[in-house]
Amino acid sequence: MDTGAARGDPAAGVPADGGLIGCRAAGTDDRKRRMLRGDKVGLRAREAADVPVLHDELHGDVLTYARGTSRAWTPMTAGSAADPCGLAPEDDLSRARFSVVDVRSGELLGQCGLFGIDPLSRNAELGISLRPGARGRGFGADVVAVLCWYGFDVRGLHRIEIETLADNAAMRATARAAGFTEEGLRRQAAWVDGTFLDAVRYGLLAPEWRASRPRPSTATTA
Ligand SMILES: CC(C)(COP(=O)(O)OP(=O)(O)OC[C@H]1O[C@@H](n2cnc3c(N)ncnc32)[C@H](O)[C@@H]1OP(=O)(O)O)[C@@H](O)C(=O)NCCC(=O)NCCS
Repeated sequence: MDTGAARGDPAAGVPADGGLIGCRAAGTDDRKRRMLRGDKVGLRAREAADVPVLHDELHGDVLTYARGTSRAWTPMTAGSAADPCGLAPEDDLSRARFSVVDVRSGELLGQCGLFGIDPLSRNAELGISLRPGARGRGFGADVVAVLCWYGFDVRGLHRIEIETLADNAAMRATARAAGFTEEGLRRQAAWVDGTFLDAVRYGLLAPEWRASRPRPSTATTA
């Protein structure tokens, strides 16, 4: 994959000693070629056809949206510049936004990404939101595993963080399964649907991730 950035440029988030080198295409399918693959999911660039689906099911679900972000829900046109489900500006190196698909069927499962990528301290925040029909099917942990591989090995990050509501059992289990450490409870940190809720912060460091080797065996762009 051509990242379009100079190798070894820390500001560009490209590690001097690695990254996506010599990624090969195993098949002739363009979609597969441009995908980061885990055991169950593929992460690929947002396509225009994804936008109305993700916007309707994710942004259109006001409560789930409010529970998954610190920003207030506002009405938004699908695909507008501010739409978090829209086509991401590809020159913004402070974030990497992906559509999530089922590697077997190609079904669009949701979206995920790394945000607030800080090239100095080399940390970032991980976010994930699956379509309602894709939840509870075991995709979440694989998405986090592939994002960790991308963050640590491709972007050269040292630390990835997850923050979620204390009552989000699925996200908390997903973070734990990926090897994240619970680092603290932020009391009444989130205003959601008329009340303040606690938030929990998780962190995973690159050496911890490497030691536990959660990298999915099939994580590749092939
Ligand atoms: C949170 C989310 C990413 C988890 O992904 P998922 O694919 O649904 O989760 P999985 O099926 O892989 O399950 C992960 C774990 O959570 C558990 N789990 C799943 N749904 C659960 C629920 N509703 N309540 C309690 N535990 C649940 C599973 O049993 C599993 O636990 P285990 O690893 O101990 O077996 C996904 O549900 C989602 O996108 N939710 C809506 C948006 C959201 O909350 N995003 C996070 C915002 S910070």
